[in-house]
Amino acid sequence: MSGARAPLRRASPAALDRAAALLREGGVVAFPTETVYGLGARATDERAVARVFEIKGRPRFDPLIVHVADWDRARALAVEIPPLAERLARRFWPGPLTLLLPKSPVVPDLVTAGLPTVAVRCPSHPVASELLRRAAIPVAAPSANRFGRLSPTTADAVAEQLGARPDLILDGGPCPVGIESTILSIEGGAAVLLRPGGLALEEIEAEIGPVRTGPATDARPRAPGRLPRHYAPRTPLTLLEGAPPPDAAAGRSGLLAFRAPAQPQRYAAVETLAPSGDPREAAARFFAALRRLDALGLERIFAEPAPDSGLGRAINDRLRRAAERAEE
Ligand code: TXA
Ligand code: MG
Repeated sequence: MSGARAPLRRASPAALDRAAALLREGGVVAFPTETVYGLGARATDERAVARVFEIKGRPRFDPLIVHVADWDRARALAVEIPPLAERLARRFWPGPLTLLLPKSPVVPDLVTAGLPTVAVRCPSHPVASELLRRAAIPVAAPSANRFGRLSPTTADAVAEQLGARPDLILDGGPCPVGIESTILSIEGGAAVLLRPGGLALEEIEAEIGPVRTGPATDARPRAPGRLPRHYAPRTPLTLLEGAPPPDAAAGRSGLLAFRAPAQPQRYAAVETLAPSGDPREAAARFFAALRRLDALGLERIFAEPAPDSGLGRAINDRLRRAAERAEE
């Protein structure tokens, strides 16, 4: 989007105070987390939360994650605490792990889209934790993009998508993890993976043993981040699963490569996610690289999958959902 933009401020102590006051008063503030930028509103203020849905163009059947400063504040949002949830929070919070807890009536149905669970997360980014501490309220915040589009990992990417709609954008630099949090539900005392994300499944399994994976897509509104088509660039995207790109790849196509590609000259533009081969490096660069390719007006983006382990799993999940769009 071009034209008017929301005030954008470096996350100084004064800007953090202003942002915390805005949130307490029912304003909408974009802020950095270690995963991606979030678009926050006071979770118990339905008018403020409704504005988040409007600003994103997000359907109301898609529930939001509530961000808290610590585990005690998470407990206050739940009627019951599964012991496994507590164990996971104590081990991995603050950090890129979202847990579904049985919802307390203090959480409006608008936040959870009428579901009996509330998604809760305690971010580790210093700006996010300082903001949550100063505001001292739970903050509902989806990723700060227009619905279905690429998640922003810089303040500029937020401003470009959301224009003047937020009351304030806090700039905390690029997000270090770069991909959204891992979402787990606890079902019958066992953890179920609903969205692979910034905390690697291997790390979780090292703590609690094997984790069941929920259905990969969910056409119904239980977790629209799992809608088959999501996280999409505007340019049609083809995932090169096993197959080399067709000859038509020549010309106005771009390549999102995992490591340095063999024949970069075949493409009008190439972005390499992990010159070192480390999927964490790839995750940190993923959305910004895709955004740069998307801005070039290419006919098609070809994307190489990452190795399917660690954060590579989360990257491949996002790529598959982005690729659905090409088949429209
Ligand atoms: O890293 C993140 O999680 C970022 C930062 C800002 O914290 N947030 C984020 O939020 O990715 P969002 O709204 O873009 O994605 C949250 C996902 C959605 O797919 C939503 O459907 C799912 O979480 N979700 C939220 N509450 C849920 C619930 N009660 N049950 C199942 N899924 C839920
Ligand atoms: Mg999102």
